[in-house]
Amino acid sequence: MKRYLILLIFMAFISCGNNENKIESEKNSAADLDRKYKEIGQRITEESFNTLRNKLMEAMASREISGAIEFCNIAAYPITDSLSKEFNAQIKRTTFKFRNPNNAPNDKEAAILEYYEKLHASGTQPKDSVITINDKQVWYIRPIFVQGICQNCHGNIGSTIAQNNYDVIKKLYPEDKAIDYKSGDFRGIWSVIINTDDKK
Ligand code: HEC
Repeated sequence: MKRYLILLIFMAFISCGNNENKIESEKNSAADLDRKYKEIGQRITEESFNTLRNKLMEAMASREISGAIEFCNIAAYPITDSLSKEFNAQIKRTTFKFRNPNNAPNDKEAAILEYYEKLHASGTQPKDSVITINDKQVWYIRPIFVQGICQNCHGNIGSTIAQNNYDVIKKLYPEDKAIDYKSGDFRGIWSVIINTDDKK
């Protein structure tokens, strides 16, 4: 029930740009803030993704996939942690089919994931969104899609994921659910809480 309420608020939020009764200046400042935090959110998630991807590629090149899996296991947290500090934001990746149970969604994230999944399934590409939490924090959400390279670790066991690599994954993540993805699939979201009282 709570989940649907949050979803309604979310839908009201993303459609409020069409509310013609709004006073013009209010409309502009809300749109300005939305744009500003979208840009900040995009910078944070792009930098996080690039950092993770570059490190992953390096690890895959020098240690092969099994080494890269171990690397991801050790390094995904410190990397997002240090970027969180740098941007004064809490950066998280979350999904229903998670590999690391620490990445499981909370209630609000689950509502967004459900909404994005339905949208994607109906043929509409979900876009990034900004939701105001209070006067000190905004929530930036960005969908994550599967690319070819991801299938090495999130595809089909025995075809895109070699069995010996999957053995390494299973050892580190006994409850892994993050497989059977194809290129273009909706994989999850970046969920970023940005502190708006930051002076930057
Ligand atoms: C070398 C193997 C490897 C590759 C390639 C890889 N991942 Fe992962 N992925 C992992 C591991 C290991 C984790 C668990 C990290 C952790 O402990 O937080 C993970 C976690 C994730 C998560 C966090 C949610 C969860 O399931 O725990 C997302 C989202 C994700 N990967 C998306 C992607 C995308 C998108 C790509 C391609 C751009 C990709 N991954 C490529 C190994 C990989």
